[in-house]
Amino acid sequence: MRRIIGNWKANGTAAAARALCAALPPPPAGVEAAVCPPFTALWAAREALGAGIGLGAQDVSPAAGGAFTGEVTAGMLRDAGCRLAIVGHSERRQHFGETDARVRAKLAACWREGLLPLLCVGETAEQRASGRAAEVLRAQVRGALEGAAPGPLWIAYEPVWAIGTGTPAAPPDCAAGLGAIREALSSAWPGAAVPLLYGGSVNPGNCADFWTAGGAEGALVGGASLDSAAFGAICRAAGEG
Ligand code: PGA
Repeated sequence: MRRIIGNWKANGTAAAARALCAALPPPPAGVEAAVCPPFTALWAAREALGAGIGLGAQDVSPAAGGAFTGEVTAGMLRDAGCRLAIVGHSERRQHFGETDARVRAKLAACWREGLLPLLCVGETAEQRASGRAAEVLRAQVRGALEGAAPGPLWIAYEPVWAIGTGTPAAPPDCAAGLGAIREALSSAWPGAAVPLLYGGSVNPGNCADFWTAGGAEGALVGGASLDSAAFGAICRAAGEG
């Protein structure tokens, strides 16, 4: 089973979401696909999505509900039809001060409500240049899972320097990053089965490299997921070989 998840980021009106979702071809057998529109377009996407493509959110509140102005809770996301939520994306860590403690609270919120968290981890260009990539990845996984009993989880390895740059990780770098993640996972949650995805400048032309040579079990796709033909082609490639 390969997983292809589209992260639309802060793009799209409800009408655009409806059009994009209506144009997505059903994923082939052996591929689990989902799209993560902005909160405001979740309902429109839900109505327009064909069978076989799931719905996810780009973020989730750690709060269960109540006096938390502006927050969208895991329960609300379930109500809107989401089965998963992205947690700890580097853009949230970078621009919105997302800490390991907040990531942990968001994972717990997902588990409380039966939402599958897709945890993102990744090193910056500077951390990579100074040879600290593996250490950073292990620390992010440890930080996210500290004190948590094993629960449903997917993890995406998203090197920050590969996101939106057109320069994806080379397959050996992808494999090395996934190896570091696996190492931290097996000490935090021995024996747990956690699918590992790759994200960062994935497109129809390079996607297969990440599962054939990079060791990933799917992809988290940003820019290319805004194009129905490109997202469809990535899903198709995931169903082959
Ligand atoms: P990208 O984004 O595919 O546009 O590089 C990936 C992501 O941020 O999840």
